[in-house]
Amino acid sequence: MGIVLGIESSCDETAAALVTTDRRIVAQRIASQVEAHAPYGGVVPEIAARAHAEKLAPMIAEVMQEAGLELTELDAIAATAGPGLIGGVMVGLVSAKALAMASDVPLIAINHLEGHALSPRLADETLEFPYALLLVSGGHCQILMVERVGKYRRLSTTIDDALGEAFDKTAKILGLGYPGGPAVEQLAKSGDADAVPLPRPLVGSGEPHFSFAGLKSAVLRAKESGVHRDEDIAASFQKAAVDCLLDRLRVSLDPLDHVPSLVVAGGVAANQKIRSALEGFATDRSMRFVAPPLALCTDNAAMIAWAGAERLASGQSDPLDFAARPRWPLDPDAAPVRGAGAKA
Ligand code: KG4
Ligand code: ZN
Repeated sequence: MGIVLGIESSCDETAAALVTTDRRIVAQRIASQVEAHAPYGGVVPEIAARAHAEKLAPMIAEVMQEAGLELTELDAIAATAGPGLIGGVMVGLVSAKALAMASDVPLIAINHLEGHALSPRLADETLEFPYALLLVSGGHCQILMVERVGKYRRLSTTIDDALGEAFDKTAKILGLGYPGGPAVEQLAKSGDADAVPLPRPLVGSGEPHFSFAGLKSAVLRAKESGVHRDEDIAASFQKAAVDCLLDRLRVSLDPLDHVPSLVVAGGVAANQKIRSALEGFATDRSMRFVAPPLALCTDNAAMIAWAGAERLASGQSDPLDFAARPRWPLDPDAAPVRGAGAKA
């Protein structure tokens, strides 16, 4: 049995965790910066980097102390090395490098998306490769085939906004707080999902990708028209989002040979309407539906430690001069997508 320290600092969560190779989370700490960014309606990179710099070192000391371990007793130190907000990524990666060098423990530089992609296997030891992963958060919106550790095939990505971002923008338009997803879901409960005609961007197209910019603009127009109730706009937006997800999954997965499992990860996976729609999609295709506990779906360090443990088990580690990567596609062979920016 081995033990890996994981560090996550690529967006607005500062986190450290100790995870064993037999799937035990020994200690973990996470500090969300939601309150610091809330006045701006989104993550401010410099505020994020400063908070990581302040919080990370004491957090690492705390998890080590809780586990009663010295750094030299670790089997590896894994840190998110990208993609993400580069100031934050640097804080985590440089800390990991310093600790790895000082204690002569291997460094493992983790792709944050690989952390999300492998995290379901931390929660569920029966989940075998391959599986299809829908990753939907504030920063990511992708459908991936997870073939094995280190082998990911991107089937779909977004050409503009991520789905969580679309929820957050809708919340802003409706005057709800940040993060907006939970607020939109709550308001939608008392609304009529068929009341406001909203577009389903790219639905019906053979291209497998997502697009939410047009939906967001339509939400803005619906609000500005003054004709609709906010709860109806929220419910109609959520229904449009579900329709887009299901259609994109159909285009991406139906042409493939039978895929045994569909896994969802990312903060948007908290949404009950989305969960039940995905469950229905999987059941219709005799696929197993796996939704890991929410604490593992959203950004956390246990998933980074676990990805490190999986890579360690396959004999991999990284050099101490591994450079942070603001962009780092999980599938280097994926075809470029028209219009896609940082989220591809
Ligand atoms: O994974 P996450 O915590 O952080 C990253 O973005 O990486 O995801 C946060 C996103 C936010 O955009 C938030 O609005 C969305 O997940 N979200 C939701 C719900 N809960 C969180 N979206 C829809 N419905 C929810 N219940
Ligand atoms: Zn993430």
